[in-house]
Amino acid sequence: MLEVSNLTVRYGPFLAVDNVGLRVTEGEIVGLVGANGAGKSSIVKAIGGLIAPTQGAITFRDSDLAAVPSHARIRLGMSVVPEGRGLFPRMSVEENLLMGSYSLDDKARTHAAMEAGFQLFPILAERRWQAGGTLSGGQQQMLAIAMGLMSEPKVLVLDEPSLGLAPIVIGEIGRALKQLRGRGVTILLVEQNAKLTCSVADRIYIIANGRIERHDASDKILSSPELLDHLM
Ligand SMILES: Nc1ncnc2c1ncn2[C@@H]1O[C@H](COP(=O)(O)OP(=O)(O)OP(=O)(O)O)[C@@H](O)[C@H]1O
Ligand SMILES: [Mg+2]
Repeated sequence: MLEVSNLTVRYGPFLAVDNVGLRVTEGEIVGLVGANGAGKSSIVKAIGGLIAPTQGAITFRDSDLAAVPSHARIRLGMSVVPEGRGLFPRMSVEENLLMGSYSLDDKARTHAAMEAGFQLFPILAERRWQAGGTLSGGQQQMLAIAMGLMSEPKVLVLDEPSLGLAPIVIGEIGRALKQLRGRGVTILLVEQNAKLTCSVADRIYIIANGRIERHDASDKILSSPELLDHLM
């Protein structure tokens, strides 16, 4: 469904992403795990069309995305929830969700997508009229994910949803992601938190210094404690 091949991203002379390949198949949750500065967000931005790769290709549902601008990728069924959440802090929860649905252009579908978001994160329904910027960190992350779902994506790409959150909230996010898989949403989960990622993903790519170092089933990664220590 989503394929990244030979992706290289340079910032001037600095090589941030070095010949990365990864693949996400329909219905899967795939993890991309790496430390600070490993190149994760650069890959996410290239997938979302927010930066142009120096080299390589990104294919989504059999189309080459090279010439497809960011907003058109959303229409194709790709939704990227950026690191730092990308909310509109002065807008209410409901208004934020509506911003996520502009590509739908259909009232009934927009309403259904919003209800699905409230079902996934009931706290958002309670806070429907509250300004996004006044939510707690965990609630803001939930809102960001719900916003990302408003365009009815086939694939959801999440950049570090656990960042800065308490373990209990991270657990809630993990449960929501598993629920989404049950609804048929394919997910690329990009994280520093290896424990969370192993608990929800089927397969994991480990990235360090811009390169994929390892790719394996989550249970195999979980059974390599030295690797987990190294990542956390
Ligand atoms: N616009 C930029 N200009 C120059 N260097 C950049 C730019 N964006 C990122 N980098 C560098 O590229 C490397 C990879 O950054 P990136 O944000 O992709 O990492 P990351 O894995 O997402 O890290 P984090 O976990 O901190 O979010 C880092 O060394 C970073 O300093
Ligand atoms: Mg990042």
